[in-house]
Formats: sequence, structure tokens, C-alpha cells
Amino acid sequence: MRALIKAIAVISLITGTLVAAAASGEQAAAKAPLYDRLGGLKGIAVVVDDFIDRLVVNKTLNQNPAINAGRMASPAPYLKFQVSQLVCEATGGPCKYTGKGMKESHAHLNISEKEWGVMADEFQKSLDKFKVPAAEQRELFEIVGKTHPDIVTRK
Ligand code: HEM
Repeated sequence: MRALIKAIAVISLITGTLVAAAASGEQAAAKAPLYDRLGGLKGIAVVVDDFIDRLVVNKTLNQNPAINAGRMASPAPYLKFQVSQLVCEATGGPCKYTGKGMKESHAHLNISEKEWGVMADEFQKSLDKFKVPAAEQRELFEIVGKTHPDIVTRK
């Protein structure tokens, strides 16, 4: 009986050690938050700055009178601030986005699928310019993609 108890104690000790080792291995393999992998708010702000600069001069987007008017109502520095805050929060950073929801801020812009595609191409160019790695680009596109139903409203 005593031998059995001893054997069980040894087995549970080994199991416990293995579980602890596996957990710490998992931790080591876990990726840093996307926010950190993008270089924090500095990295995000630099990409967003370039991205908004591209959007505001884009001829296809400005052909849509609602987008053009919205651009006048919300100057580029304001959009850069709000979008940086949003991306910071959505990627696991310490920011708190305090702007309007995506539905509310885009409902009146009558954005089409084609215009969404133009925006995505410009975003890609900014990400490539600052050499954001492919994995991080994919994660960012996944986050941005979630806003599609709220932003593309033209039937
Ligand atoms: C084709 C795509 C898009 C276009 C043409 C567009 C254009 C605009 C325009 C013109 C405004 C200002 C509206 C106004 O003041 O009346 C605005 C606001 C904003 N957009 Fe977009 N947008 C697009 C997609 C996105 C996406 C994908 C995001 C983020 C993931 C985003 C984030 C924001 C934010 C945070 C604001 C400011 C909201 C506020 O005023 O509090 N936009 N957008």
C-alpha cells in the first residue's frame, strides 16, 4: 500500500513538472500582441499618416461627392488621430478609441465595393512602404475587414 502511494506521488510529481514545462513552452512560443509587433503607437501612426495622405488625394474616392464632403468635414489630421487610436486599441495597445462607431461615421458616405477595394489597395501600399511583414499585414487586414459591413453601404 505504502509503495503504491509512493508510486502515485512520483507520477503526479512528474506529470506536474511536465504540465508546467509545457505551459512555459507555450508562453515562450506565444506571439507578442500585434500592437507591439507593429512598433507600438509610433509604428501605427507612421503607417496611418501615409495611408490617410493617400486616401485624401485619391481621385476615384473623391469622385464620390459624399466622400469628398466627408473629407472636408473631417480634416486629415483628425482622421489620422482617430484611425491611429482605433488601430492601437484593436491591435491590443493601451489606447482607448473615443471616436464614432464605424456605422455612424460612414453611413452617409455611400461607399461602394469598388471604393472599398481602392482603400484596401492604398492600405497595402502604405504597409509595403514601411515593410510591415506579411503575417502582420494579414492580421491587420483581418481587423479592417471586420468593419466592411458597416462601411460599404451602397447597394
Ligand atoms: C472606402 C473606405 C473608406 C472611406 C472612403 C472612408 C472615408 C471616411 C471619411 C470621409 C470620414 C469622415 C466622415 C465625416 O466626417 O463626415 C471617415 C471617418 C472615419 N473613418 Fe473612414 N473611410 C473608409 C474606411 C475606413 C476604415 C476601414 C476604417 C477603420 C478600420 C475607418 C476609420 C474611420 C474613423 C475612425 C473615422 C472618424 C470617426 C469619427 O469622426 O469619430 N474608415 N472615413
